[in-house]
Amino acid sequence: MYSDGVVTLAPFERQDLACVHSWVNDAELARAIDRVLPVTQWEHERWYESLIARADAVTFAVRHADQPIGLCGLKGICSRSRHAELWLYIGEPAKRGLGLGRRTIALLCRFGFEQLNLHRIHLYVAEYNEKAREVYRGCGFREEGRDREHLYLDGAYHDAIRMGLLRGELIETTTADSRRALARGRHSLRP
Ligand SMILES: CC(C)(COP(=O)(O)OP(=O)(O)OC[C@H]1O[C@@H](n2cnc3c(N)ncnc32)[C@H](O)[C@@H]1OP(=O)(O)O)[C@@H](O)C(=O)NCCC(=O)NCCS
Repeated sequence: MYSDGVVTLAPFERQDLACVHSWVNDAELARAIDRVLPVTQWEHERWYESLIARADAVTFAVRHADQPIGLCGLKGICSRSRHAELWLYIGEPAKRGLGLGRRTIALLCRFGFEQLNLHRIHLYVAEYNEKAREVYRGCGFREEGRDREHLYLDGAYHDAIRMGLLRGELIETTTADSRRALARGRHSLRP
């Protein structure tokens, strides 16, 4: 378990599957993560089996107040160049916008840098996903490239943006934390 006291990265267990299945079939989430087709129970179980068997990936259930709220992971972990791709979603709509996604990203990056000895973490985000782009920027990720019109959604093409973060660039302090810290005369807070 990896935790900041608010959010915990826990093993992704079979008992979490029902929750995750309902999330991935939610239209709003599907749009955010560039999914179109519905996911059947059979596909969902096969996906889980292949995911936990992968040697180049680690997946966590995101838990808050002892409830599963999302899923995240690192994939394509390269043992030679020490890089990996980050992905995540907060599946419970009521749990978005509370700072939990940002905490999850910070925890996952710390796990990658401190436990897996990664040098670099990258990700892909749809240009229309302004919120996710803002959260990633706030954590220190920089825009490094753009695959023009790479995604097709709702009858139009959209760019896919590639972002990257080097070891040492992670920002763990939120704007709200900074405001509180400044009010107290301090300039940084760890989650
Ligand atoms: C994107 C996602 C992970 C963000 O997590 P979250 O818990 O909702 O976001 P947070 O509450 O942690 O917000 C973090 C920051 O984003 C900013 N933010 C929040 N909502 C925003 C919005 N609508 N537009 C721009 N910025 C926004 C906040 O100001 C906050 O900054 P601060 O911490 O410095 O104050 C989550 O909303 C999610 O899972 N969405 C659906 C799936 C998805 O898009 N996954 C990413 C695919 S690449």
